Amino acid sequence: MPRTSRWFIRASLVYLAVGFTLGALLLFNKGVPLGSAVPRLLPAHIEFLLAGWVIQLVMGVATWIFPRFGVARSAYGSEAATWVAFALLNGGVWLAGVGPLAPGHLGDVLPIAGRLAETGAAGAFAANIWARVRASGLSPM
Ligand code: HEM
Repeated sequence: MPRTSRWFIRASLVYLAVGFTLGALLLFNKGVPLGSAVPRLLPAHIEFLLAGWVIQLVMGVATWIFPRFGVARSAYGSEAATWVAFALLNGGVWLAGVGPLAPGHLGDVLPIAGRLAETGAAGAFAANIWARVRASGLSPM
């Protein structure tokens, strides 16, 4: 497994733990109100679980496991592009998930920046893995 995949997968597990904890807090708050600030954690809950956990896990496993025909076992595409995808995805998750908590206008702008970063992460990931989207066991086309 490449180093980049290990980082994607470890980070995804951290988001899983934090995202579920936030979900538990949101749920608890419905029965036993803890304060008006708790519902504001919903964007972070959603972002951490959908992008931070699910998408990040997919990116990590795909980078590792997609076919690598006729290339050395260590060839997982451009490591630099994968780090760019990792940085943009995680920066985007924080900007989109925690950004809405920022005061005033910033609370509107940061989530947009987060979405742009996440789009960039998807682009870097897709561009890098594109050539490896092939049926397993066939020679490169
Ligand atoms: C893969 C796991 C999960 C995902 C992708 C997820 C995603 C979401 C999404 C998208 C919403 C917003 C729904 C809407 O506004 O209609 C939501 C709300 C909520 N989630 Fe999760 N969730 C997950 C797991 C959990 C867990 C494990 C808990 C509790 C332990 C939880 C507790 C809640 C609560 C209480 C709300 C409602 C908050 C509110 O509207 O006040 N979630 N979740």
